[in-house]
Amino acid sequence: MMDAVIDEIDGRMIRIGDRWLADFASCNYLGFDLDREIIEAVPAALDAWGTHPSWSRLLGSPLLYEQIEERLTHLLGCEDSLVLPTITHIHMSVIPVLAASGTIFLDERAHKTIYDGCQAAKARGAAVRRFRFEDPDHLDQLMAAERDPMRLVCMDGVNSMTGNPPDLCAFAAVARRHGALLYVDDAHGFGVIGERGARESSPYGTRGNSIVRHAGVSYDNLVLVAGFSKAYSSLLAFITCPTEVKQMLKVAASPYLYSGPSPVASLATVLAGFDVNEKRGDALRARLYALTSRLLDGIRRLGIDTPNRSGLPIVEVPLREHRRIAEVGQYLFDQGIYVTLAAYPLVPKAEVGFRMQLTAANTDAEVDAALDALEELAARGLLRAAGDSIGTLGPGV
Ligand SMILES: Cc1ncc(COP(=O)(O)O)c(C=O)c1O
Repeated sequence: MMDAVIDEIDGRMIRIGDRWLADFASCNYLGFDLDREIIEAVPAALDAWGTHPSWSRLLGSPLLYEQIEERLTHLLGCEDSLVLPTITHIHMSVIPVLAASGTIFLDERAHKTIYDGCQAAKARGAAVRRFRFEDPDHLDQLMAAERDPMRLVCMDGVNSMTGNPPDLCAFAAVARRHGALLYVDDAHGFGVIGERGARESSPYGTRGNSIVRHAGVSYDNLVLVAGFSKAYSSLLAFITCPTEVKQMLKVAASPYLYSGPSPVASLATVLAGFDVNEKRGDALRARLYALTSRLLDGIRRLGIDTPNRSGLPIVEVPLREHRRIAEVGQYLFDQGIYVTLAAYPLVPKAEVGFRMQLTAANTDAEVDAALDALEELAARGLLRAAGDSIGTLGPGV
């Protein structure tokens, strides 16, 4: 279940060799990768623009980029936004610019790509201090003891392993109190969670406009980074910022000039994705919530441990003994269940397990098949019982 060649897909079923498996390793949370309306938007864009823009963005951006940034800014309710090909590009280039020679306070369980961005910043003169996961009080203490006036706090939104969002209100309040800029990567929240309201179709909220709107926090002193490659199934990512900062990043963050642009098909599927999100997004999120609840309710009924407290569609299942990961992976594969294995040394031994992700394109039958497999793994004593401590997860994968 690593480095596999997928021969064919049919909905959320995938074929590897002669075996069909239900895919619980997909980040295409809204099922936009399979959505006819979105797929059908691609040919006209290719006819108009060819397969790939000719230029890096500073040389020239097809009109599609303008349309995307306008619609995104409107959806998020921020002052402005800048899109670049991937979140990795953004972390590696923007974190060093924002940190300069100041101090970065880094969530100890932040995603690997945030770590890499902080390493790049360190190489350019920034200091890096780590604060404990989900612990705004620890961040407060570290910042109170820090004399450097230039402060950047880097953290995840919805955590890619636990599936839980941080208490963003608390972190934003601490950052503001200490005059720091808060930089949040919500790769897994964008498209899934959004602003709360009386008409919401599920506790995920409406419009999928990310953790900042979900938590009701303002964009003052806050930069949101996320991507379209998960919920919107397209190769593109963004950063929210004031227009003045956007103009500065265009020349200071290297991908705007030095990296190739996203393919036209991805620009077209982002735009079509905005349309579908407006028309059917909340119904898809309600479906996603129902499927996730079906899985989590089953896991609770079976007495299996998971760190997921949020009901969001990332469900990690830790193993009792890390050495048995290959056996567990083989069993799940044989039962036709495809998951993300988190093996040592990718994660510390105490945190070895597997991650299951749901998308709106999964089916009840697929979830039930997964629960049957989990029941057997639990009966064989391979999974931790509910309530067992999972320890601290390392940098997300
Ligand atoms: C939290 C988080 N940040 C960043 C990334 C990387 O995103 P991209 O592929 O856009 O570079 C991922 C991808 O898995 C992620 O989960």
